[in-house]
Amino acid sequence: MTDRIAIIGFGNIANAIITPLLDKKLLQPENVYCVVNSEKSLENLKKNYKHNINIYRSGSKESKIIWDCQYKLLSIKPQQFNDISEFHYVKNKDNLIISILAGVSINKLKQKFPNHKCVRVVTNIPIIVGKGLTGITWGETITDDQKLITRKLFQNTSKIYELTEDYLDIFLALTSSGPAIIALIIEALSDGGLSGGLQKNLSEELVIEMILGTINLIKELKLSTSELKNLVTSPGGTTISALRVLEKKSIRSALIESIVSASNRSREFR
Ligand SMILES: NC(=O)c1ccc[n+]([C@@H]2O[C@H](COP(=O)([O-])OP(=O)(O)OC[C@H]3O[C@@H](n4cnc5c(N)ncnc54)[C@H](OP(=O)(O)O)[C@@H]3O)[C@@H](O)[C@H]2O)c1
Repeated sequence: MTDRIAIIGFGNIANAIITPLLDKKLLQPENVYCVVNSEKSLENLKKNYKHNINIYRSGSKESKIIWDCQYKLLSIKPQQFNDISEFHYVKNKDNLIISILAGVSINKLKQKFPNHKCVRVVTNIPIIVGKGLTGITWGETITDDQKLITRKLFQNTSKIYELTEDYLDIFLALTSSGPAIIALIIEALSDGGLSGGLQKNLSEELVIEMILGTINLIKELKLSTSELKNLVTSPGGTTISALRVLEKKSIRSALIESIVSASNRSREFR
C-alpha cells in the first residue's frame, strides 16, 4: 500500500492490525499517521514501538494532519466515540473511515463523519498470529478501490467475511468475544487438572493441546460435534459422567446466553 493511512487510537487492536503489515513491509512507516489520547501512550509508543511511524497526541495542532490521509482506521473504544469529531476542513468525499468499534453503526459513523464514506469492520485478537476472523459491512457507494484497500488491511492476518450490518453484532459476539470465553474455559479446565493434583503449567498445556487436537480432528475428519461426542462417550464411563455434570449446571444455556448477551451489548452502542 502506498497510500497514507491514519490510525485514530493506537491500542491493542490497532497494533495487532498494523504491526504485521509494517513487519511485512506491506505498509511503509512514513505513511502511517497515528493519534492517541494520553501523553503516557504517546511517550511509550515513541520510545518503544519498533517502527518509525508518525505519532501524535489527540487535540494537538500537529495531529490535524491525520485528516489529510484518505484512509483512516478508527480504533478507539466505543465509549470514546463522542470525544472524536471530524476536522471541519475535510471536504474530499472519497475519504474513508474504517471503523472497528464494537456496535457503532454505519449510520452513526455517517452522522459523525459526514464528509467520509464509512465501512464497519469486526475483527478478533488472533489476527496477532495471522489467524484472525474479520467481518466487513460496506457503507453506501464504497468504491472498488476502497474495498481493495480495506481488504488489504485485514486479509494478511485474517479470513474475511463480507456481511450485511444485521449480522455484524452476532459475528462480533462469536468471534471477538469468543477468545475470552475460550480463555475462561481453558482456565477452568486447567483448574480441574490442578484440583486433581497436576502442576498448573502442565495442566494448562494439556488442556490447550487437547483443544487443538480436538479441533484438528473435527476439521480433518469432517466430524460433526455429535459424532465426536459419541466417539469418546462409552456407556457408564468417565466422559458421560463429566457431561452429566455440565448438563446439570446448564453449561449449554450459559454459553448460548453469553453470546446473545455480547451481541445485545454490541447493539446498545448503535
Ligand atoms: N479487544 C478486542 O478483542 C477487540 C476486538 C475487535 C475489535 N475491538 C474494538 O477495537 C477498539 C479498540 O479496542 P482496543 O482493545 O484496541 O482499545 P485500547 O487498547 O484501549 O486502545 C484505544 C486507543 O484509543 C486511544 N484513544 C482514546 N481516546 C482517544 C481520542 N480522543 N483520540 C485519539 N485516540 C484516542 C487510546 O489512547 P490512550 O492509550 O492514550 O488512552 C488508545 O490508543 C474498540 O472499539 C473495540 O470495540 C476490540
